[in-house]
Amino acid sequence: MSEKKAQLRIDGIDDPIDLPVYEGTTGPDVVDVSSLVGHGVFTYDPGFMSTAACDSDITFIDGGKGILLYRGYPIEQLAVKSNFLEVCYLLLHGELPSATETKSFENSIRYHTMVDEHIHQFFRGFPRNAHPMAMLCAVVGGLSAFYHDTLDIDDSEQRISAAHRIIAKLPTLAAMCYKHGVGQPFMYPQNDMGFAENFLHMMFGTPCEPPKVSPIAAKAMDTIFLLHADHEQNASTSTVRLAGSTGSNPYACIASGIAALWGPAHGGANESVLKMLGEIGDESRIDEFILRAKDKDDPFRLMGFGHRVYKNFDPRAKVMREICDEVLDELGAEDDPLFRMARKLEKIALEDEYFIEKKLYPNVDFYSGIVLKAIGIPTSMFTVIFATGRVPGWISHWNEMLSHPYRIGRPRQLYKGHTQRDYPA
Ligand code: CMC
Repeated sequence: MSEKKAQLRIDGIDDPIDLPVYEGTTGPDVVDVSSLVGHGVFTYDPGFMSTAACDSDITFIDGGKGILLYRGYPIEQLAVKSNFLEVCYLLLHGELPSATETKSFENSIRYHTMVDEHIHQFFRGFPRNAHPMAMLCAVVGGLSAFYHDTLDIDDSEQRISAAHRIIAKLPTLAAMCYKHGVGQPFMYPQNDMGFAENFLHMMFGTPCEPPKVSPIAAKAMDTIFLLHADHEQNASTSTVRLAGSTGSNPYACIASGIAALWGPAHGGANESVLKMLGEIGDESRIDEFILRAKDKDDPFRLMGFGHRVYKNFDPRAKVMREICDEVLDELGAEDDPLFRMARKLEKIALEDEYFIEKKLYPNVDFYSGIVLKAIGIPTSMFTVIFATGRVPGWISHWNEMLSHPYRIGRPRQLYKGHTQRDYPA
């Protein structure tokens, strides 16, 4: 039980209210305000600026110091020493796998990569120009119609089976979203390939010609998935938890996370970076756009810059910047005007007083957008790729929540509408 306490005095309530304060293993303490409702007041924190919504053992971020830990391991070490599938296991189970556990986990993921053939029919119902995120959201939610043996959320084994299914099927479904748009046949997964290589195979291969997946592109893809695998209680993860708290099935919960990720302030940012670069169009116009980003009366923001939590640097961006250099170098794309413009924009923004003062640094999406573009992924697929990487985080948080006693998530409000009034006679 907590020994630390906070006291709250509220005008109109005679005695101060004692509130327990809890300490985490690291990071800020939290004040437990759940008893306030008994005193007839709510707390008010739009945007959850100061509110911890749950306990979690999965991921820790110190935004001021630029630290991101998955189960205690720094992201920089995982990016170099680990791989996406191992990180999936780590997030889900809490520890790095032994050699036997790795084999068994990888086999389980391989076994589940195909999707039911009826799912192909879903795709045929979408117009050719449907946004890939619209299709992904729908088909992932639709998986619950096929996999009835993983819908009992009170059964921990079924929860893990659902987790494996979702992690395994996401690259297959993501590639199908792309193939539908370009009118090419869906490619079946190739289970002797690694996770990222298989994804690129399903994206760029055709039945007439297998693609030559470059090892650098496959490594970059795996690192992009790994860097996006979790980010504690961000908007989409909180959405998955909220949906899960009602007892919804895992596929529906993950679909809700995909929907939340879609927005340009979250997972849609990498797509917005490329759109913005296209809009800028030429190096000579960078200054004009920097001025617009600084103008309070202009809604334009420099996409790929700034972060709610990282106020000095985004540790994922540091890793991604190196990958970006490697990929552009390998593909001989350094002189491509778009990439040259991105580099120049990065330099100008990093030296500009406004961005320095407001601590607006390039985030992971600035560089991941450039890498994805360089390896041939169309812009409209960027957020789908983010979702494919984020799935282990979502599902681990969902599983963590369901492994302990939990309550339906139900925020309160400060009501500012009409008081009761009569319907006109
Ligand atoms: N360009 C220009 N000005 C900016 C930017 C930007 N990208 N980001 C923030 N600001 C300004 C903002 O106008 C505000 O100025 P003032 O204090 O004068 O009102 C100040 O910086 C603080 O901004 P905020 O909106 O209060 O900060 P936030 O923590 O609520 O928002 C953010 C964080 C990521 C939504 C925001 O920085 C942004 O919109 N960035 C561009 C979109 C983007 O790249 N998003 C991807 C985030 S990384 C992926 C992920 O983890 O989901």
